[in-house]
Amino acid sequence: MTRVPSRLERFDVVDSTQRIVAAWLASGTPEVAVAVADVQEQGRGRQGRSWTAPPGSGLLVSFGFTPDWLDPSHAWRLGAIVALAMLDAAEDEAGLRDGALGLKWPNDLVHERPQPVEGGHGDLLKLAGVLGESTLRGERLSTVVVGIGVNVDWAAAGFPAELATTMTSLREASGGRPVDRDALLDAALARLEARYESLRSGRFDSAAWSLRQRTTGREVEVAVGGATLRGIASGVDPETGALLVETAAGTQAIDSGEVVRCRVVG
Ligand code: BTN
Repeated sequence: MTRVPSRLERFDVVDSTQRIVAAWLASGTPEVAVAVADVQEQGRGRQGRSWTAPPGSGLLVSFGFTPDWLDPSHAWRLGAIVALAMLDAAEDEAGLRDGALGLKWPNDLVHERPQPVEGGHGDLLKLAGVLGESTLRGERLSTVVVGIGVNVDWAAAGFPAELATTMTSLREASGGRPVDRDALLDAALARLEARYESLRSGRFDSAAWSLRQRTTGREVEVAVGGATLRGIASGVDPETGALLVETAAGTQAIDSGEVVRCRVVG
């Protein structure tokens, strides 16, 4: 049984928990190494974007794995199990009903806005984002660091103007219920341990990952390289991790690694 966590450190201020965990793994710390910070000065998001959250508002955490047994084409599954573990933990700790939260492909955690508003995108509000960064040794995976930033105790009045129509927090989703960030992390770690053991034994919970996708059945706009593709998302492929989109030209399988942006538009 893999220890989850093998090492856990909490920091007040860091550059990025991703960098810290990557450095630990590089110097021999065993998996699953976990770094949590209250504030990140150089928080990293997907596609080279940054990730910021005011002090006290977020759970900013990175999980470091050394999965040399995992086929590199399945490295994305580590991001998926982190997202699923956090989603279940967040529903429990915020007192939300099962299924209240979902995923926006590939692994954003989302909550559906109760009342649609002008400028909202398909009314799925982003609650958390997941970033996976991996290294290879030859053709095998050496390290995978999965970071997740969860908006926890962040009131809507303080959301940045440019994100105010597309983001939310656990505090907003739960109608103001306080959520303890340490308890949320503990709950997520317990679920991650079980999901990681399953993955090690060759079982990926493709049903949960597919069923939780709120993108499915909705109109999406996906920016891939220089092109934008629009169609109805018909599901996800649990073998490749791709988003399946029905377009006039037929079914397109879109690889998350190539995607600059995926927006739900209807
Ligand atoms: C996204 O762009 O949606 C992914 C955001 C991931 C942010 C988390 S916060 C903890 C960890 N450390 C980082 O620098 N980034 C990830």
